[in-house]
Amino acid sequence: MAKRLLDEAAGLVDVGVTSEDIDAFIHRRCIEEGAYPSTLNYKGYPKSCCISVNEVICHGIPDSRALCDGDIVNIDITVFLDGVHGDVDATYPVGVVHPDHLHLIEITRECCEKGIAAVSPGSPISDIGRAIEAHASRFGYSVVRAFSGHGIGELFHNGLSIPHYYDPAYNTEMRPGMVFTVEPMIAAGTWRHRIWPDGWTAVTADFSRTAQFEHTVVVTDDGAEVLTT
Ligand code: MF3
Ligand code: CO
Ligand code: CO
Repeated sequence: MAKRLLDEAAGLVDVGVTSEDIDAFIHRRCIEEGAYPSTLNYKGYPKSCCISVNEVICHGIPDSRALCDGDIVNIDITVFLDGVHGDVDATYPVGVVHPDHLHLIEITRECCEKGIAAVSPGSPISDIGRAIEAHASRFGYSVVRAFSGHGIGELFHNGLSIPHYYDPAYNTEMRPGMVFTVEPMIAAGTWRHRIWPDGWTAVTADFSRTAQFEHTVVVTDDGAEVLTT
C-alpha cells in the first residue's frame, strides 16, 4: 500500500506544485485506506511524509515552496496498516533536470538495489553498506553516514541499524524473518551534513545535491523479499 501511495504521489510532482500539496494528498489517501501516516507526530514531526528537495538529504518538512524546473525531489512515505509499518521512498526529477543530477538519481537507485541484493541469511549486516559504498564511490559519490536503514515492523524504528557505508563493526548476522529498510542517501559531494534550526531538515554540508531510494525488505531463506513493491 505504501508503494502504491508513493506512485500516486509521484504523479503530482510538477513545476509549481508545493510539498504541502503533496503532503495533503498523502495524508488524505492514508486516511481513505484506513492507514495512519507514521511520521505524523512521530517524535514531534509535524507532517504525514518527508519531502526533501535538492541538497536536502532527508526529513524535509513539507512547506509552501513550489517545486522548480530542474529540482530533484524525494518523497518518503511510511504507513501503519494492519499493525505494522511500511517505509518507502524515491527521488524524482522536476521538469528538465541537468544530466548530472539525473545520473545521481540513477546511481542512487542502483545503490538501493545493490544493498538489497546483498541481503542474505548468515551474512553480516555490514555487507549491505559495503555493496552500496562500493557502487557509489565508483562514480565519485559519497554515502551519507548520519542516517541509516532501520529495523521496522510493529515499531517504526525498532533499534536495529543498517548503515549504508561499510563499517565492519555491524557484524550482526542477518536471519530469515528480519525486517528492515535499505535507504541509501547518496551525495554528489560530501557525506557530511547539517541540520536546519527546525531540528529536522538535514542538508549536505556543501549544499551538493543528494538522492535517496528506500524499500522495506524481509530476509528470506535465500535472500531478501521486497515488501514495498
Ligand atoms: N521515513 C523516514 C525513514 O525512512 C523517517 C522519517 S521520521 C520523521 O526512516 F520523523 F522525520 F518523519
Ligand atoms: Co526508513
Ligand atoms: Co522512509
